[in-house]
Amino acid sequence: MEKKILRNWSSIDTRLDNIERKVRILDREPQFFNNVPLPSWIELSIVDACNRACSFCPRKDESIAPNTYHQMSMSLIEKLCADFKKINFEGAFCLSGYGEPTLNKNIYEITYKLSILGAVELITNGDTLKPSDIKKHYDSNLSKLIISLYDGEHQIEKFKQMTKESGVPDDFVILRNTWYDDKENFGLLLTNRAGTIDVGKQTKYHEDGSCYYPSYTSVIEWNGDIFLCCHDWQRRIAMGNVMQKDFFEIWNSGIYNKYRKSLLCGDRDKKPCLDCNANGKVHGFKHADAWKKTFKM
Ligand SMILES: C[S@@+](CC[C@H](N)C(=O)[O-])C[C@H]1O[C@@H](n2cnc3c(N)ncnc32)[C@H](O)[C@@H]1O
Ligand code: SF4
Ligand code: SF4
Repeated sequence: MEKKILRNWSSIDTRLDNIERKVRILDREPQFFNNVPLPSWIELSIVDACNRACSFCPRKDESIAPNTYHQMSMSLIEKLCADFKKINFEGAFCLSGYGEPTLNKNIYEITYKLSILGAVELITNGDTLKPSDIKKHYDSNLSKLIISLYDGEHQIEKFKQMTKESGVPDDFVILRNTWYDDKENFGLLLTNRAGTIDVGKQTKYHEDGSCYYPSYTSVIEWNGDIFLCCHDWQRRIAMGNVMQKDFFEIWNSGIYNKYRKSLLCGDRDKKPCLDCNANGKVHGFKHADAWKKTFKM
């Protein structure tokens, strides 16, 4: 694979902590295409399965998220890349979604293709990782490898050692401690995943119910279906499918704009938002303002 470094962050950026780094990506000034605000963050769910069944995740319930092992194909990635090129997309990608992304056999190729368009982050439970895999992720132009540590503090040393052995820069790997117990919030900004889980100390959405997620992000499922956000594990109401329409057409469609507008007004009156307790105002305020202007609100 041709080695071509396209990382979007300087060494100063990489010293900033996780939240500060995400703010710089998600809360940037919005980019426009045909006067329509574009997303800054695209999450891809590249495999419909996980090797774990965490108590706070809908994966634990087979009636909601059975492991089908469906994988996002390279032809879908090619189609997506073509769509994003057409609109000169300048945002970032996150390989995470509704499963464990390292279970996709084409993960390195997927990362490399997307990295030509923008920064790519990967969120993983780390179970499949070996030092040689960490190196392969780095060589695929991945920007950040984010490892969720669910088992305990001992994992810090294990992954630090692996990172050292792999020979990649230390700040390529971010370790997230998420092992706290269910009386707290498991170290996460815990939500009910649109009414599909009920454990731990969950966050309650902002009093006015507003949600900015559809203003700045999209989640693309393994088969090309586009969903409103990473909290929507019900996955019943797709905004469209990228194998049938261009991404921009779906992003600016009537149904997407209807949800977007209602959520900017604080109306969580339709599923999946009706059942969701996520605080939708953590990021994306500049995109929300841009959409409000577009809708003349
Ligand atoms: C669904 S996981 C997919 C990636 C990978 N399997 C992992 O766990 O890191 C994506 C992110 O969602 C987080 N997550 C899982 N359940 C959650 C919940 N109920 N509320 C908030 N975040 C949650 C995970 O900790 C992880 O950071
Ligand atoms: S949080 Fe991640 S590792 Fe845990 S079950 Fe869900 S997808 Fe799997
Ligand atoms: S209200 Fe919940 S389900 Fe709806 S877009 Fe916002 S975070 Fe997603």
